[in-house]
Amino acid sequence: MILETIGVCKRFGGLKAVNEVSLQVEEGQIYGLIGPNGAGKTTLLNTIAGVHPPEAGKVFFKGQDITGLRADKICHIGMARTFQIVHSFPNMSVLENVMVGSVFGSRRPVDKPAKKAAEMLNFVEFPLSHDTLAGNLNTIQLKRLELARALATNCKLLLLDEVAAGLTPGELIDLTILIRKIRDNGTSIIMVEHLMKLIMDVCDKIAVLCFGEKIAEGTPQETIENQKVLEAYLGTKYVL
Ligand SMILES: Nc1ncnc2c1ncn2[C@@H]1O[C@H](COP(=O)(O)OP(=O)(O)O)[C@@H](O)[C@H]1O
Ligand SMILES: [Mg+2]
Repeated sequence: MILETIGVCKRFGGLKAVNEVSLQVEEGQIYGLIGPNGAGKTTLLNTIAGVHPPEAGKVFFKGQDITGLRADKICHIGMARTFQIVHSFPNMSVLENVMVGSVFGSRRPVDKPAKKAAEMLNFVEFPLSHDTLAGNLNTIQLKRLELARALATNCKLLLLDEVAAGLTPGELIDLTILIRKIRDNGTSIIMVEHLMKLIMDVCDKIAVLCFGEKIAEGTPQETIENQKVLEAYLGTKYVL
């Protein structure tokens, strides 16, 4: 098992944004998290990645209790994440942006960070010159940049938050292929996603959150047939 949460809770004032959520993600899995807006998906990723510690419950990564560990420490032991809103350094080149990932993502000084960054850009099939300024990229190019930067930290687990938002159908196919390639290269993935087509195409297992609680879990097929999920999220007339 690469990641386990046991009874994780996170409140904002009186609101239970994440309420006793337990998940188990196996090594090599692509694990999807779905649910309505405000269900607590991003908050759950934040408690896993150390952005804010859970008030109750435990998080284990590669068998190690990481509950309450700071985000940079969690990154150093092999967990990376992308954000719903892409954060890049617009006045830096694409290569420099990825170098930030390789330099800050590791505990020790990195040998040849530019070489590593270039390798990661090639891995994500970045289509433009590596000295292009990040501020000049379109949506899919920014997503590739963000993935390269996350992978440059040598992560074993990658958390993706709505990485498909804003893509065209063609770009979505490219992203699907890239997500599988990342997994096949040895990185497990937890992805929050609204696009059911992407979820159904790539995920081995899905959990559904609703008002902070996990209401269902299973294979993609089991999940879309689950009555609770249809009522809470997909709608009773859901057709793939
Ligand atoms: N930093 C915060 N401060 C206060 N409330 C928050 C904060 N972040 C999220 N929330 C609230 O927690 C709930 C879950 O939010 P979020 O995890 O972003 O949901 P999702 O990603 O599933 O759309 C929402 O009601 C949201 O308004
Ligand atoms: Mg969110």
